[in-house]
Amino acid sequence: MQPWSVIDRAQTADARLVVGLMSGMSMDGLDVAVVRITERAGAPERPSVELVAGESTAYDDELKGRMRGALAGTPGDVAALSAELAELWAHDVVELLDRKGIDRGDVLAIGAHGQTVHHTPRADGAPAITLQVGDAARLAAGTGLPVVADFRQADIAAGGEGAPLIPLADWILFGEPDEVTACQNLGNIANVTVLPPTTDEILAFDTGPANALIDAAARSTDEGRAAGGIDKDGALSATGDIDNDLLLALYTKRSAWLAEKPPKSAGFETFGPGLLDEVGDAFTRLGAADRVRTVVEYTALALRDAYAWHVVTRFPELERVRFSGGGCHNRMLMTRIGALLADLGLVVEALDPTWTDLKEAVGFALLADRTLRGLPGNVPSATGAAHPVVLGAVTPPPR
Ligand SMILES: Nc1ncnc2c1ncn2[C@@H]1O[C@H](COP(=O)(O)OP(=O)(O)OP(=O)(O)O)[C@@H](O)[C@H]1O
Ligand SMILES: [Mg+2]
Repeated sequence: MQPWSVIDRAQTADARLVVGLMSGMSMDGLDVAVVRITERAGAPERPSVELVAGESTAYDDELKGRMRGALAGTPGDVAALSAELAELWAHDVVELLDRKGIDRGDVLAIGAHGQTVHHTPRADGAPAITLQVGDAARLAAGTGLPVVADFRQADIAAGGEGAPLIPLADWILFGEPDEVTACQNLGNIANVTVLPPTTDEILAFDTGPANALIDAAARSTDEGRAAGGIDKDGALSATGDIDNDLLLALYTKRSAWLAEKPPKSAGFETFGPGLLDEVGDAFTRLGAADRVRTVVEYTALALRDAYAWHVVTRFPELERVRFSGGGCHNRMLMTRIGALLADLGLVVEALDPTWTDLKEAVGFALLADRTLRGLPGNVPSATGAAHPVVLGAVTPPPR
């Protein structure tokens, strides 16, 4: 395929079928979304988006182990992981399209976020540094489809953090013409996009931990590991009690980060297992359920603080927050977040369940479509970039 034929097709077709792939920081699995994007007369920035098919596939424990190993490994380990993931993703995409009876010839392209193996936020004038793997050429060869990947680098080259990139997709999908709303994702880290009617005032930032600390707490005991290394449906935390000493210790360690004004982003170094090591005995002296219950409470309180200090102060008219991401399945977490945000006058809304785990994959399908149409995909007020830029690198399939 000539590289420009995909661009020609993207720019001339009013309805386009695009696949989005997300493999998140939690390294839990691959989310695949197949979306139909249709131009709307009079609203060139806001096409209609239909989720045609989608699926989340969990990685097996061996692969998860190799992924964690690669993060601490050699460049060769990272390269091997990049190849292995791309081949697995290609297999999953082909299998899903075939099973759903979707002809690959009808698909315009794949937008693949990739697996983040490194992300250092911008600091003291030094640019952010980020690396996502999942070899685009192998993914293109394995599916026969053009691939748009490496979305974050262009925003960084324009002076931004390279993150968050979902805000524009949130605005296209959920923005209201005459209301301020918000989208809150609970992945590894928690992040919010506040959506005013126009894109230039979008506020988006990482609010704190989502599942990062909960997973680390669940993985810290045999009981938690036997339960799958997560607080599945909130079942483990439901049997535990809050330990005030641990809660205070966690709060004290990261109070400066929580108070910091946005834009800001967090990673493993801020809210990963290292934080539990830092609080030491306050954590390790507790049993499995109390550990997880207390960390769930801290996670909900950190989210409440972010809204109290940085969101409702700036957008007092905000009423509705739409939640997505794996954390929505944790009943204890959602109950506590619902109660704490209600105190701020905010209503928690769940997305349609078929969207909960797929919103970010849908987002990267939308961003790939914009790239192929020559439209910018970043929101400078969210990433700190000097200006809007077209994101990503396009890899055509071999034939
Ligand atoms: N049934 C469940 N009960 C409780 N927690 C769940 C359940 N299913 C998933 N989770 C949590 O959700 C996490 C994965 O969430 P998600 O896929 O949204 O995040 P992610 O892959 O890290 O993405 P991102 O990079 O956007 O943060 C898991 O690590 C787990 O903690
Ligand atoms: Mg995930």
